[in-house]
Amino acid sequence: MYNPQYTEIRDLVSKFTDTEVAPLAAKIDHDGVIPQDLINKLYENGFMGSYIPEEFGGAGMDYTSYAIIVEEISRGCASTGVLISAHTSLCMWPILSFGTTEQKQKFLPGLASGGVIGCFCLSEPNAGSDPGTLATFAEDKGDYYELSGTKNFITNGKDAGIAIVLAKTTKTNDHKGITAFIVDTKTEGFQVQKLEDKLGIKGSTTAQIWLNKVKVPKANILGEVGKGFKVALSTLDGGRIGIAAQALGIAEAAFRYAKKYSKERVQFGKPISELQAIQFKLADMSTEIAASRLLIMHASYLKDNGLPYSKEAAQAKLFASEACMRITTQAIQVLGGNGYTKEYPCERHFRDAKITEIYEGTSEIQRIVIAANELKGV
Ligand code: CAA
Ligand code: FAD
Repeated sequence: MYNPQYTEIRDLVSKFTDTEVAPLAAKIDHDGVIPQDLINKLYENGFMGSYIPEEFGGAGMDYTSYAIIVEEISRGCASTGVLISAHTSLCMWPILSFGTTEQKQKFLPGLASGGVIGCFCLSEPNAGSDPGTLATFAEDKGDYYELSGTKNFITNGKDAGIAIVLAKTTKTNDHKGITAFIVDTKTEGFQVQKLEDKLGIKGSTTAQIWLNKVKVPKANILGEVGKGFKVALSTLDGGRIGIAAQALGIAEAAFRYAKKYSKERVQFGKPISELQAIQFKLADMSTEIAASRLLIMHASYLKDNGLPYSKEAAQAKLFASEACMRITTQAIQVLGGNGYTKEYPCERHFRDAKITEIYEGTSEIQRIVIAANELKGV
């Protein structure tokens, strides 16, 4: 965390966020669109391929650096933060970790630095927290599989060029028989069915995808046939660090605004920052932000060093997302009535915060993962 290399990366992304991202956040929230010009700049600066080795078109950074990037960008705009997180953790990471050399050479350069956006299609209308029961079926047609089903709530789903799709190659009622596929979204039958109108992260598109007999060559099977659930769950382990970082970025933005405001707002003849009631709120916010950052850095450190990190990633996501909800709520309280209006950014931070307790596994699911790990072998 205090490694000079990380300080340098944080400074660099922080400057980019302050000049290129934060000034656009209110408009992105209002219009529901991240400007293509900003997405181009994310690619140009290496933020879309930070974790990917240089030989595959990426910036060759580690996961800790990637988490810092997601945190800092999310401090400016939570929608832009999750664009990067879903693209990196959920689409490129499984290709890098489970893909063949040919698959890495074919798909990673475009994703890391060529402007191609990635998405991850696991959830379905009837399979959210329990993805083992997903119903999308991949029928073996000899040279290729034909995928049919509906995927729900897919981040980047409207704009993605490449999708990781989880489908059953054997009909079962549980996770056995799930296979992971790399799907080119231009393939006939890959259709955006509807876009969700959401509470927050309004610049991030959330699509329902209809897979209508989508032909996927067997060369695009990711990992082994029937082993897709492990691909999905290990992908989510890393993804949860990304969402924890997004939550931390949102919390930091709300905290900084509330702190500054409290020094400027005068009531009862003095700035409200001189009231102990306000100071205690700021103290709690500051402490929860520090704890979130340490949990994220710890999980990233374990991942970067090839150590088990499933429990620690769930802990980071659970704590950082719930802390983000508390911090953004208290930030509005510090601003009083102004905090409740769209003239001030804290109401956006509050709306953006909530999703971090839901996607990539709800808080309840994180507790299940943490408890299962704690009780293992006891
Ligand atoms: N890594 C690899 N394999 C794992 C694993 C992990 N972290 N955790 C479990 N497994 C394996 C188990 O070893 C087991 O393997 P075997 O069949 O060989 O024994 C298999 O997976 C099944 O394990 P469980 O019985 O524990 O699985 P389960 O069906 O009870 O589910 C769960 C466990 C933790 C609840 C899991 O279903 C889960 O994480 N649910 C939440 C889903 C989720 O997070 N969805 C996010 C969608 S993406 C998204 O949201 C993106 C975004 O917003 C941007
Ligand atoms: P449900 O599973 O129906 O859960 C409802 C409630 O029951 C929750 O409170 C849950 O915690 C609780 N619950 C369920 N099971 C248990 C249990 N065993 N014990 C205790 N409580 C339980 N998915 C993707 O695949 N790719 C994406 O890119 C993606 N992006 C998303 C973006 C957005 C904006 C949203 C809203 C969702 C996204 N998702 C994505 C889906 C997301 O991962 C799911 O919404 C989430 O996993 C919860 O599933 P669910 O909505 O079906 O809720």
